[in-house]
Amino acid sequence: MHRLSTFLIGILLVFLTSWVGVVAYSSSRLGHLDPIADADTGGSLPPNLQGDAIAGQRVYAAEGCIACHSQQVRQTSVTGTDIARGWGVRPSVARDYLRDSTAFLGSVRLGQDLSNVGVRLPDAKWHYRHLYHPGSVCEGSIMPSFSHLFEVRKIQGQRSDQALDLTGVDAPKAGCEVVPTAEAKNLVAYLLSLRHDYPLPEAPVKKAAGAK
Ligand code: HEC
Repeated sequence: MHRLSTFLIGILLVFLTSWVGVVAYSSSRLGHLDPIADADTGGSLPPNLQGDAIAGQRVYAAEGCIACHSQQVRQTSVTGTDIARGWGVRPSVARDYLRDSTAFLGSVRLGQDLSNVGVRLPDAKWHYRHLYHPGSVCEGSIMPSFSHLFEVRKIQGQRSDQALDLTGVDAPKAGCEVVPTAEAKNLVAYLLSLRHDYPLPEAPVKKAAGAK
């Protein structure tokens, strides 16, 4: 009987310590964080996801992009800082994820960190071609193709202005065109919305030498 009560008290202590460490401590440190006012736009920071990007965030989750991409600019990493790699202008902080129902931090980096991909690669057409066939815009890419997010269809009348400019092995049969589905459009809207290049009180952006 004595052993049983010691065992039960032990289990209780394990749960209590985990709760204090994971829930209570984190909440006391981060629970008070709020968005801040954005003097430039009159809105707030971090900005809310808008329009198609909201649905695009779900496509990002469903397609498993997190398996190879992080969304967290780190201060240091084994091979150097992420800022030196051109992946951001300041380290990511907790406030950056306030608006996210799921924070896609990620831990595997087979591909680049995508926290600021909207600043780095602002051309939607580039993203469509890259998703359709990564090797066509990045030689030797090991990123899988997401061509299932596109539709190959017969050209009805005029070629769509959304049709991808594909050449070589990717070119569709004569009389056909490749267009992004709604999922691809939403996903790209989400990628273009990914930018954390604004300063936060706890994460200022250092001005480049010579900048005013
Ligand atoms: C199996 C791993 C893997 C998966 C899954 C994956 N990627 Fe990639 N991704 C890579 C690699 C490797 C690169 C670098 C080569 C290249 O640009 O194609 C890359 C590059 C990128 C780039 C260019 C980033 C830059 O700074 O040049 C974007 C954007 C991107 N991926 C988006 C996505 C999206 C969106 C998904 C999900 C739909 C996804 N990736 C899924 C491996 C992956």
